[in-house]
Amino acid sequence: MAAARVPLWAICVLRVALATVYFQEEFLDGERWRNRWVHSTNDSQFGHFRLSSGNFYGHKEKDKGLQTTQNSRFYAISARFKPFSNKGKTLIIQYTVKHEQKMDCGGGYIKLFPADVDQKNLNGKSQYYIMFGPDICGFDIKTVHVILHFKNQYHANKKSIRCKVDSFTHLYTLVLRPDLTYEVKIDGQSIESGSIEYDWQLTSLKKMEKASAEAEGWDQAAKDKSQDWEKHFLDASASKPSDWKGELDGDWQAAMLQKPPYQDGLKPEGIDKDVWLHQKMKNSYLTEYDLSEFENIGAVGLELWQVRSGTIFDNFLITDDEEYAENFGKATWGETKGPEKEMDAIQAKEEVKKAQEEDEDDMLMGRFRGRENSFKGFHRRNEF
Ligand SMILES: *[C@@H]1O[C@H](CO)[C@@H](O)[C@H](O)[C@H]1NC(C)=O
Repeated sequence: MAAARVPLWAICVLRVALATVYFQEEFLDGERWRNRWVHSTNDSQFGHFRLSSGNFYGHKEKDKGLQTTQNSRFYAISARFKPFSNKGKTLIIQYTVKHEQKMDCGGGYIKLFPADVDQKNLNGKSQYYIMFGPDICGFDIKTVHVILHFKNQYHANKKSIRCKVDSFTHLYTLVLRPDLTYEVKIDGQSIESGSIEYDWQLTSLKKMEKASAEAEGWDQAAKDKSQDWEKHFLDASASKPSDWKGELDGDWQAAMLQKPPYQDGLKPEGIDKDVWLHQKMKNSYLTEYDLSEFENIGAVGLELWQVRSGTIFDNFLITDDEEYAENFGKATWGETKGPEKEMDAIQAKEEVKKAQEEDEDDMLMGRFRGRENSFKGFHRRNEF
């Protein structure tokens, strides 16, 4: 049998075609980003974002991103996309962040929100699915957060991950896979990985579910009863269609009515109290299914506090394809990181030169200068 030869370009095209890109934002169309991103008006004191590539960059246009502009402010801004569920698929969240102001205290992370998030009212209490990225405050906090929301509770990563603290642009990538493994990358390098269940210490929650069922002496009969649960919500007013043929169509069942939420004091007629309570408890424990799935992802946002502003967020990507994310990272951050460092080095040299010239001028003029002033020119960005 002659093997069909597939040209390389065809494989590449196929790969791109297989990737689903839920959201991608490079801010390449001037001020039109304002049509896609919504500043929250929940608090009139919230800080404003502007589009900027900063004081030094690899490419003046391509490096433009959302920059925080006011010191000691909360910020809240978000963008929508078509809602999706990551069930059974890999989820990758990636973006670049640059603290060119020499960050002393402030967030550099992003949040993924459910589609029903109120963008105009976005604030610190808005429920999110995932919070990911660097957070710096003083000497103690230099952390990459990965906070996941399961069953009305936030869970922080237990393995601490150190973030970058210099003022260059860095690429942050979070990968959550359907086999319940994860990976955190900085600048394309894997710096932490493992099991979602263990690294977020969720095992105890799963055990509790099993233990509680056992402790209550659940036997097969009780389990069967529990499976009958949904029958209490069938549409009792529906009747079997007259042309229904059992042999062909299978057993007829009435359509489901919407299930009421499991709440205290709310109990459907005729159901066993134990079954009710068990279902109610079950709802607050985690199953494997819960650890990987976010049903209705629909917005990405920056909701954070900064003491000194100047951070630039850019190159946002949400996709299901690791290879696509890698290539996107290379095509954006990968291309501009080198020239950005060069520009910074040139500026630093010029600053030193200028300071020396000023000192020479001062000496020639015999003018006395305060100690503070003569050191001013040697301020460098990356002394942290
Ligand atoms: C801001 O959000 C909070 C919490 O959601 C809400 O209680 C408050 O009314 C909002 N403020 C404004 C001005 O909309």
